[in-house]
Amino acid sequence: MNLRIFNTVDDLLRAAAATLVQRASSNGSLSIGLSGGSTPQPLYRMLGQSPLREALAKARITWVMVDERYVPLTDPQSNAGMIERTLFAEGISPSHQFLHFRTEFQDPSRSAIEFERVWRDLDLKQLDSIILGIGEDGHTASLFPGTPVVDVEDRIASEVFVPRLDSWRVTLTMPAIRAAKLRIVLGAGASKRNIIREVREGADYPIARATRDVDSWWFVDREAVGE
Ligand code: 6PG
Repeated sequence: MNLRIFNTVDDLLRAAAATLVQRASSNGSLSIGLSGGSTPQPLYRMLGQSPLREALAKARITWVMVDERYVPLTDPQSNAGMIERTLFAEGISPSHQFLHFRTEFQDPSRSAIEFERVWRDLDLKQLDSIILGIGEDGHTASLFPGTPVVDVEDRIASEVFVPRLDSWRVTLTMPAIRAAKLRIVLGAGASKRNIIREVREGADYPIARATRDVDSWWFVDREAVGE
């Protein structure tokens, strides 16, 4: 595991931001996957305001939502809504576009199919980099342990019902996540300590399967590794 340990969560988010800006400056045109959850929100805010906003505006970027809770865009739980309030707080740069799951269909399967149709229209093929979170139960994106979506191999995106949350989600699939050139996994705080330890010891959770044997950088703070 390629683990980078930072003193504070702020340090690790700054390092993640620097990695994305560096890749945007050297590629000129790239696609970046964005996970939901609380950990990356300050990172997205940082990327959406000066001076990083201007640095990123020089590149052609397709921002891609990694997963979505099946709620309207205006719901506080909406990941795309969170991106609008953070990364795009000052508006989306003219050279950028945003692919996200459209929940207004009120049909999770249709949302996944439509997402995949646009993915193909954009000729995305594979993401350059992807920001991933870690759930305390070992999920990443909306690939929750024990749900059938973890084994879906023939699609880019899929719907999934998560019994533990009693709700529907839509998510990039395991092969789409593994195909990205780089995965940046963010883990901050003591609540992530057990799951990170188990994954380091070889446990087979979705976050482990999504990152094993493919280029993955784990950006964690000292609290998350108990140091
Ligand atoms: C989501 C996610 C999810 C998240 C983890 C970690 O929409 O909730 O994409 O996979 O990354 O649950 O979430 P936290 O950063 O809030 O701990």
